[in-house]
Amino acid sequence: MDKTFYITTPIYYVNDVPHIGHAYTTVACDVLARYKKARGCKVFFLTGTDEHGQKVEKAAIAQGETPLELADRVMQRFQGLWEKLNIDNTDFIRTSQERHKNGVRHLFEIIQAKGDIYLGEYEDWYCTPCETFWTETQLMDGNCPDCGRPTDKLKEESYFFRMSKYQDALLEHIEKNPDFIQPRTRRNEIISFIREGLRDLSISRTTFSWGIPVPDNDKHVIYVWFDALSNYITALGYPDDTDGNFERFWPADVHVIGKDILRFHTVYWPTFLLAAGIPLPKKVFAHGWWTVEGQKMSKSLRNVVEPNMLVDKYGVDPIRYFLLREVPFGLDGDFSHAALVHRINSDLANDLGNLLSRTTSMLHKYFGGILPEAAEEADLDTALKSRAATTVKEVDRHMEDLAFNKALMAIWELIRAGNKYIDETTPWALAKDENQRPRLGSVMYNLLELQRLTALLIAPFMPETGEKILSTLGQDKPDTRLEGQDSWGLLVPGTAIAKAPPLFPRIETE
Ligand code: ME8
Ligand code: MG
Repeated sequence: MDKTFYITTPIYYVNDVPHIGHAYTTVACDVLARYKKARGCKVFFLTGTDEHGQKVEKAAIAQGETPLELADRVMQRFQGLWEKLNIDNTDFIRTSQERHKNGVRHLFEIIQAKGDIYLGEYEDWYCTPCETFWTETQLMDGNCPDCGRPTDKLKEESYFFRMSKYQDALLEHIEKNPDFIQPRTRRNEIISFIREGLRDLSISRTTFSWGIPVPDNDKHVIYVWFDALSNYITALGYPDDTDGNFERFWPADVHVIGKDILRFHTVYWPTFLLAAGIPLPKKVFAHGWWTVEGQKMSKSLRNVVEPNMLVDKYGVDPIRYFLLREVPFGLDGDFSHAALVHRINSDLANDLGNLLSRTTSMLHKYFGGILPEAAEEADLDTALKSRAATTVKEVDRHMEDLAFNKALMAIWELIRAGNKYIDETTPWALAKDENQRPRLGSVMYNLLELQRLTALLIAPFMPETGEKILSTLGQDKPDTRLEGQDSWGLLVPGTAIAKAPPLFPRIETE
C-alpha cells in the first residue's frame, strides 16, 4: 500500500480576514504536502474555517449580520486567497457543516459515556479574544495573561472534562515521543505547564447560542475549542468513515500551527483523544510569529501586507519563496518590503533566473537549441554531479524536519554551484575551438541536467516556476515528481530546449 501523509493547518476564525500570518501557515503546509506527493505519498492536506463561538457571534452582531452570513462571506475570502496562493488542499472543512457537527457530538458523547464529562459550576475569568478561562491567580493585573486584554467574570453551570485525570498519561506520552511537540523549546514549555497541574476543563457555555448544542441539553453549546479541534478527525469522516479516510489517514502526521495555539493542540486535544481512545497525532509543530516592518500586525498595517495585494504586485512564487526562506520555521520573523525585494532580486532574478537564461541562450548559440550528449566526464563534472546527489539527500532530511529555510539554502547552494561551473568551464572559450566540441557539449548537458533537478526540488515551494523550467527543458506536460526522477542523467540528448522565459524580472528600487 502507498505511504500516507496527513497534514493540517489550524482552522481560521471568520471574525478576521486572512492576512500574512494565515498565509504563512497555509503555504508551509502546502509546500510539505506537495513535497510528500512528489515523493510518492498519498497525501491528505486539510485546511478550513472555525465558525462558532462568542467571538464570531459578537463580530457578526457588530456588523449587522447573522454569524452564518459572516462565516459564508469570510470563508470565501480564505478560499479565494488559497486559490491565489496556489494552495492545493484536499479538503476544506467548515465547523458549521453537518458532517463536522455530527462528529463533534459523537466525540462528546463517547467521552461522556466513559464518565469523563460531568455537569458542574464554575466561577472564573474569561478572555473572549482568546476564548480562554483563567483563574483569579493566573490573571495579570486583572487582565488576560496571554493577550493583556480585560477579562469578564463568569459564573455558569457548565460541563467539565476530566482533564486532570490524563495529566500523567499525557506527560508520559510526551516523554516517550520526543518528536511529538516541536520545536524543542516549545516542548519544554508544555512539559513545565503540565507539571504545574492540569485542572478539569469547562467544555460548554450557556451565555450565548452560536455553537453546537450539547447532546440532550441544548441550554449549553459545546466549547469552541472542543468543537474546533475535532475538525482534524471530522474532516476524515469520523465516526462513520464511509470513505475510509479516517482509517487511512489518522493519526495525523503533523498539525502545523502558530505558537499562539500550542497549548490547545498539545494539552487539550491529546487529552480529549486519550479519553476517547483515539490515537494521538504524531507531531505538532508550532512556528513563530510574524511582525510587519518591526511592528505587531494591526488592522492598518495589514493593508500594507494584504496577501492578495502582495501576490498582485510580486507574483505568487516570490511570496511563497520569501515566507519560507526568510525565517527559520519555528522562530519569529519580520516582514519588510525591502527584505522581500532583496530576496527577489538576488536569489530569484540573479541566481535562479540568470542560470537558466545564460545556459539556454548558450545552447541556442552553440547547438541550435538541441541538447547534446555528455560525451566525457571531467573532474569538475564529477564534483557537480555528486553535489547534486548530496543536495537531494539534504533537502529530504530538512523537509522531514520542517526546516524549510535550510532546504532552500541547500537548493540555492546547488544553483550557485551551477553558476560557478559556468565560470570555471568557460563555454565561450570552448566554443572557439572545434576540437573542444565534445567538451562544450558535455558542459551544456550538465548545466541543463542540473536545472532539471533543481526544478524538481523547488517545485513544491514554487510550483509555477518549477513547471516553467521543466517546460523550457522540453516537457510538454511538466512532471514534478521526485520519486524515480531525482537521479542524474535523465535528460535525453537530442531534446529541443526552449529559450528561457524571463522567470523573475528585477525589481527596481529607488
Ligand atoms: O486560533 N504570525 O484561529 P486564528 C504567524 N480558530 N502566524 C500567524 C499570525 C502571525 N502574526 N497570525 C495568525 C485560531 N497566524 C483558531 C484555531 S485550530 C483547531 C483553531 C496563524 O484565525 C497561525 O497559524 O486566530 C496561528 O496559529 C493561526 O493563524 C491563528 O488563527
Ligand atoms: Mg488568533
